[in-house]
Amino acid sequence: MCGIVGYIGNQKASPILINGLIRLEYRGYDSAGISTIEKNELSIMKDKGRVKNLYQLEGIDDLTGTIGIAHTRWATHGKPAKENSHPHLDNSKTFSVVHNGIIENYNELRKFLTEHGYTFYSQTDTEVIPNLVHYYYNKDENSDSLKFLRAVKNACTDLKGSYAIEILCKDYPDNMIVTRKDSPLVIGKGENENYISSDIPAILSFTRNFYLLDDLELAVLERTQVSFYNLDLKPISKDTKTIEWNATSAEKDGYEDFMLKEIYEQPTAIRETIGAKFNEASKCEFDELNFTKDSLSNISKIYIVACGTAMHAGLVGKNAIEKLCKITTEVDVASEFRYRNPLVDSHTLCIFISQSGETADTIAALKLCKEKGAKTLAISNVIGSSITREADYSIYTHAGPEIAVASTKAYTSQVMLIVILAIYFAEILEMDTDLLNTLKKDIMELPAKIEETLKLSENILDFSKKTYQEKDIFFLGRGIDETVAKEGSLKLKEISYIHSESYPAGELKHGPIALIENDITVVSIITDPNLVEKTVSNIQEVITRGAKTLIITNQNLDENMFDLTIRIPETNPFISPILSIIPLQLFSYYISKEKGLDVDKPRNLAKSVTVE
Ligand code: AGP
Ligand code: GLU
Repeated sequence: MCGIVGYIGNQKASPILINGLIRLEYRGYDSAGISTIEKNELSIMKDKGRVKNLYQLEGIDDLTGTIGIAHTRWATHGKPAKENSHPHLDNSKTFSVVHNGIIENYNELRKFLTEHGYTFYSQTDTEVIPNLVHYYYNKDENSDSLKFLRAVKNACTDLKGSYAIEILCKDYPDNMIVTRKDSPLVIGKGENENYISSDIPAILSFTRNFYLLDDLELAVLERTQVSFYNLDLKPISKDTKTIEWNATSAEKDGYEDFMLKEIYEQPTAIRETIGAKFNEASKCEFDELNFTKDSLSNISKIYIVACGTAMHAGLVGKNAIEKLCKITTEVDVASEFRYRNPLVDSHTLCIFISQSGETADTIAALKLCKEKGAKTLAISNVIGSSITREADYSIYTHAGPEIAVASTKAYTSQVMLIVILAIYFAEILEMDTDLLNTLKKDIMELPAKIEETLKLSENILDFSKKTYQEKDIFFLGRGIDETVAKEGSLKLKEISYIHSESYPAGELKHGPIALIENDITVVSIITDPNLVEKTVSNIQEVITRGAKTLIITNQNLDENMFDLTIRIPETNPFISPILSIIPLQLFSYYISKEKGLDVDKPRNLAKSVTVE
């Protein structure tokens, strides 16, 4: 996955690059490295592990170059080690490269280059890139101003897979070349200086004006200008986009961790997501969509495709779309969907949910659906992200930048937006007005109820202190509550490293109940009034077998039965997950803290999964 940063201007590049790397560390932290041009020679400094190892390296403060590239790695090819860290050089030390993505044909290219006398010093796929650029550079007998660009372009034509690349050439000390295919890269425009980053928040403190590079486009950065080319080296003109996000909203604002800050930002995130689309008294507005009664009636099936937490938001969306619009809706994990030859045609609407908008599996599934003639709709939190550029329609959550690897406010905002989308469809299809009006009224009351729910943190903290040493925790629910059980379980796993499973409560007796023994913790969500009694009976079954229970409910239950009951405000079942997930987010957070773990950057994970 990795994060890349670049700078060209009149200031010392290294502090700017390191600042960017720190902000991008959530994308991978196996190693960090930086390359600058120092007195017309390429300098490389890199080390295994976190960015702090890099900035503690002797000599890093002596770098004075005003052009440089940098990388924080999430290893795909070659173990985390200094020799596999980026930037990588070609054999002649003319080019340095950082890369995000996977070069799928690197073995073939390595063989070709070895036959042409090149030697490889790392196990990475990336190292073929600087050497391939050098191969073409060396073959080119011209020595005009475009020679560097031609070499990069020729090398890119040979690459298969995904990449966002930054390249420096010691013969062109005032140029940096960048290009991308299926991996993110944005260009920040400053005053006589320009920036590169894998995402917008990392360089938002330097500029608000961004160029968005499309797949297979190349950009040549100089101090005062950026020139764009397609793969035929035809110039392209591009305008900047101004980003309204506040740079401080990407900072911790006094919270100990980004995750906690983001949990507490949910009332605002939901308020803004609602406000952008919705007014209780009137119809839902989606200016960016143009569905009509005819076009919606023509849709025979909806697929919601996503990964991880975003897929869990899709499960809540399925419930709303099927019940409000009466359209069959299936939810799929993107990495499975694309390889199972799904039955998609021009009567299918495919909805893709991705916070980052850069998840490789989700993008690939989207491309497949487009090829099959389906209508595609992207839901993302990042304006201009890859899925929004691929899809026929795009709508946005207004969660603001989410930095913690574990998704919280993006999930609840996704749930909110997809429920509003379901209302929009249902209004066009002229479905049950009373049901829709009640739901709209309940949505308007939701931000205040989220604030109330967040006040319940004290009890959850106490319970976490009693459970943080557990080996296994189970999450149970029925109906909509089961989708929340899934998300609660994922959250716990990813940041506390405690093994956890979620099950439909009624399914337990068909096998998993064999795992229930004395003192095991079982968490259950009970909000659906129609299913309360059934779920309570299932919880009784685990209590009988010695389980400790944490219950998240908005119903009047006999609290004496359970070890801890968290009473959340009552709301409409269509949107109850937005409230019931909050105690579970806090539960995972406190357990992780109690165990002394790095909440924002859990092991083996990365925020944006741009490899398959
Ligand atoms: C969330 O806590 C996870 N880290 C992960 O499951 C995430 O939701 C998934 O990788 C999808 O990311 P996206 O929304 O950016 O596509
Ligand atoms: N494939 C490259 C490597 O393993 C880059 C990985 C990444 O995108 O983080 O070094």
